[in-house]
Amino acid sequence: MSQARPPGPEPLVLGIETSCDETGVGLVRGTTLLANAVASSLDEHARYGGVVPEIASRAHLEALLPTLTEALDTAGASLADLDAIAVTAGPGLAGALMVGVGAAKALALALDLPLYGVNHLVAHVAADRLDSGPMTEPAVALLVSGGHTELLYVTDIATSAPVVGQTLDDAAGEAFDKVARLLDLPYPGGPAIDRAARDGDPHAVSLPRGLMTPRDLQRHPHDFSFSGLKTAVARHVEEARRDGVAVSVADVAASFQESVADVLSAKTIRLAQEKGVTSVLLGGGVAANRRIRELLAERAADVDLHLRVPRLSLCTDNGAMVAALGAAVVASGAEPSDLGFGTDSTLPFTQVAVSG
Ligand code: KG4
Ligand code: ZN
Repeated sequence: MSQARPPGPEPLVLGIETSCDETGVGLVRGTTLLANAVASSLDEHARYGGVVPEIASRAHLEALLPTLTEALDTAGASLADLDAIAVTAGPGLAGALMVGVGAAKALALALDLPLYGVNHLVAHVAADRLDSGPMTEPAVALLVSGGHTELLYVTDIATSAPVVGQTLDDAAGEAFDKVARLLDLPYPGGPAIDRAARDGDPHAVSLPRGLMTPRDLQRHPHDFSFSGLKTAVARHVEEARRDGVAVSVADVAASFQESVADVLSAKTIRLAQEKGVTSVLLGGGVAANRRIRELLAERAADVDLHLRVPRLSLCTDNGAMVAALGAAVVASGAEPSDLGFGTDSTLPFTQVAVSG
């Protein structure tokens, strides 16, 4: 093994992400992004209309070493330059997580480096540091993807980012994917609906806003629900087809998207105001949505909130976000994870990094 370098002012951290269908390997020094290599098995899942865990795990196994090599090449670094390794320990698909954690443990052992098992969702928030530097804390973060829809209250990215609200049923991206299927649009449905909605009227079809009645807001002020909305779209499409009326895909897509954007932005602003924060962050693959970004930006500006949205390649699942969180945890002085740690497909938010 080559000689360990004297540590620089900030540690060079390798991040490994394999919680879903993206194999991500990133390299970060402090809050500086050096490489973000991603291989996706998305195409292999497309014909099933969703991620197939077994296919994802096998794809991670095949993609991990080439993705690691690509990241090191991009950064002009070698394994001997690393100071620490961070890996997603959860939440995510159990088998998929195991591939990344197994690889990270092997690397940590072989290179005699500290290893940090970190929380995937908090890593989504940490990604923003690579674009805009550390955020003013506390802050509120809205994470929306195919697997999650959560509101986080971030008090200290390295130690505490509790979840304050979440979906009671489908994730936002999942709702996009299911509604796209109802409209005979391709998978993944989010981009297809976003495109179709451009030519549609967002007020053409009257659709419900999940958990927004005064009673719902009392019981679930920060939670989301998209199943009623999805059912309302299904009913609209069925009725139109039964009556021989042509369904305007553009109008339905625009109306559905408007409902999701309305609820997501209203609840995010509500929580931000309740907590008195000055910054709000939007992350996850659904952050690509044009209308969600637009409406959230509008409503944030109305109440003088600063909205941060990382570039899209940092919003979707990637290894750089894991490295970014790892670097923050290292900087906080936290102990590395014990090498015996397991994956946890339901890792709670209260755990930013796993200890043992
Ligand atoms: O973060 P991501 O790449 O993977 C995980 O699910 O973790 O998010 C993928 C999800 C899919 O459900 C996809 O339909 C959705 O993000 N998505 C979008 C858009 N682009 C991707 N949803 C709405 N509008 C988009 N433009
Ligand atoms: Zn994710």
